[in-house]
Amino acid sequence: MKLTLKIWRQKNRKEKGSLVEYRLENVNPDDSFLEMLDSLNYDLIVKGASPVAFDHDCREGICGMCSLFINGRPHGPDRGIATCELHMRRFNDGDTVFVEPFRAKAFPIIKDLVIDRSSFDRVQQAGGYISVNTSGNPQDANTVPIEKTIAEAAFDSATCIGCGACVAACKNASAMLFVSAKISQLALLPQGKVEAQSRVANMVKQMDEEGFGNCTNTGACEVECPKEISLTNIARMNREYFKASM
Ligand code: SF4
Ligand code: FES
Repeated sequence: MKLTLKIWRQKNRKEKGSLVEYRLENVNPDDSFLEMLDSLNYDLIVKGASPVAFDHDCREGICGMCSLFINGRPHGPDRGIATCELHMRRFNDGDTVFVEPFRAKAFPIIKDLVIDRSSFDRVQQAGGYISVNTSGNPQDANTVPIEKTIAEAAFDSATCIGCGACVAACKNASAMLFVSAKISQLALLPQGKVEAQSRVANMVKQMDEEGFGNCTNTGACEVECPKEISLTNIARMNREYFKASM
């Protein structure tokens, strides 16, 4: 396949970036999107040019590191997959493909396509955990019976990989899908109920402090989420927040 890539290049956080054009003559349709970028980088390095910086780790949809905005959509044109699971056969010979970083004030660009998502870490650190004393004789988790439907709902929320596509998809750069998934995975379970009130209050406060916007009610986050995290998590977070405020 022949492809024209227009890739966002930016030296660092402070300098202005721009789209730079690259023409590829021999793209393997069975390559993943990241393998295609690897080939481009190989050619750039051979020519003595600077390779395109992009994030990745597991390359199998579980770590949440890959974060490309492809032709105007976080993680590209397919639903329910991360960038690393996207394959070049999804594009046509002769296509022009725009590749940009996820854009949000709370995700500043580090270099090219790499963004700083430590704001998500700080939201998580504000309350996304349960406090258990493990120094003595912790209770076996299996001794607490949990209804199957509740365990499954908690697991669905826990599949959020923290990629940030929900923020990139939202015109308000809202992180409510991410934060609500992290709150829901604990709020649904008995182990998470002890700190439920302080958790939701602290995580929402941190979310606001990081500069994420409010929910637009348009649902773009759910559509673009690679793990198809449901908007019902946001409704649950709002109920938890209301209860905590009372
Ligand atoms: S809710 Fe979905 S889009 Fe948002 S961080 Fe989690 S996995 Fe990524
Ligand atoms: S590289 Fe891990 S989810 Fe894409």
